[in-house]
Amino acid sequence: MADNTFDGSRFAGKVAVVTGAASGIGAAVATRLIGEGASVVGIDITGEALDRMAGELGDRFVGATADVTVESEVAAAVGVAVERFGALDLAFNVAGAARGGKILDLEESDWDFTIDLVQKGVFLCTKHEARHMVERGGAIVNVASLNAHVPMHGGSPYVTGKAGVEMFGKNAALELAAHGIRVNTVLPGLVDTPLVAGVTGYEPLLTGFLERIPMGRPATPDEIAAPCLYLASDDAGYITGSSLMVDGGWELSNYPDIMKIVGGA
Ligand SMILES: NC(=O)c1ccc[n+]([C@@H]2O[C@H](COP(=O)([O-])OP(=O)(O)OC[C@H]3O[C@@H](n4cnc5c(N)ncnc54)[C@H](O)[C@@H]3O)[C@@H](O)[C@H]2O)c1
Repeated sequence: MADNTFDGSRFAGKVAVVTGAASGIGAAVATRLIGEGASVVGIDITGEALDRMAGELGDRFVGATADVTVESEVAAAVGVAVERFGALDLAFNVAGAARGGKILDLEESDWDFTIDLVQKGVFLCTKHEARHMVERGGAIVNVASLNAHVPMHGGSPYVTGKAGVEMFGKNAALELAAHGIRVNTVLPGLVDTPLVAGVTGYEPLLTGFLERIPMGRPATPDEIAAPCLYLASDDAGYITGSSLMVDGGWELSNYPDIMKIVGGA
């Protein structure tokens, strides 16, 4: 196997699509892929930021505006990879957002919005990405959340959707292995992006979050992009159907620090 991991050419000649590419984790994934030699179609519902990124990232980046909950738009946007770059090797399904509220008051429309985006969006993207990969194999990485394992007050549609993303990834891995397509899931904890500006920008809330993160800080978007790229790389060639928690240890911390309370340490 060629040892090109550290010279910026790990993904040279590969073609990738990234959803949610206009911001946060998706933008970090797209930027890293370009830096490591891939050609990238960045898909987002927000076209303006994609145009700006195309100016910054050069000819190997193409933006495609699409809503990941609309199948015809997903099919067309994913198809841009083949039209512009001749193939599709890698896919990163990152797009996401949420509407929430307490179950006693939650509107049906907020439930539908969130489940559609978080869950159906990943299904539609995986379906159309995999259709371009069945002949020559490929790798798909879906971004779920710590909330696939950890519930959140007012977050029932989001946590349900993200738990579904994780299990969907396992099912997709099972079905697509025969075509040489690997499917894995990354579960981020708190990541410093516009999505969580309401947390990172409000001190009392941020303090509450940080108390639960043993590493004591949010991740940068790049710290999520890096494991996403690893799972898509040849170094992960025998890994499929896996879930990688990238949460600074948050999932481990739901237990009081007994030593601190009893005065031992
Ligand atoms: N930031 C966090 O703390 C965190 C933690 C765990 C999981 N996540 C997940 O990571 C993913 C990326 O989140 P982020 O923090 O980078 O958020 P972000 O808001 O910075 O970026 C999300 C992007 O998705 C796009 N998008 C939203 N709806 C879309 C649609 N219908 N079709 C196409 N694009 C759409 C947005 O326009 C935006 O550019 C999401 O799936 C999110 O649930 C984020």
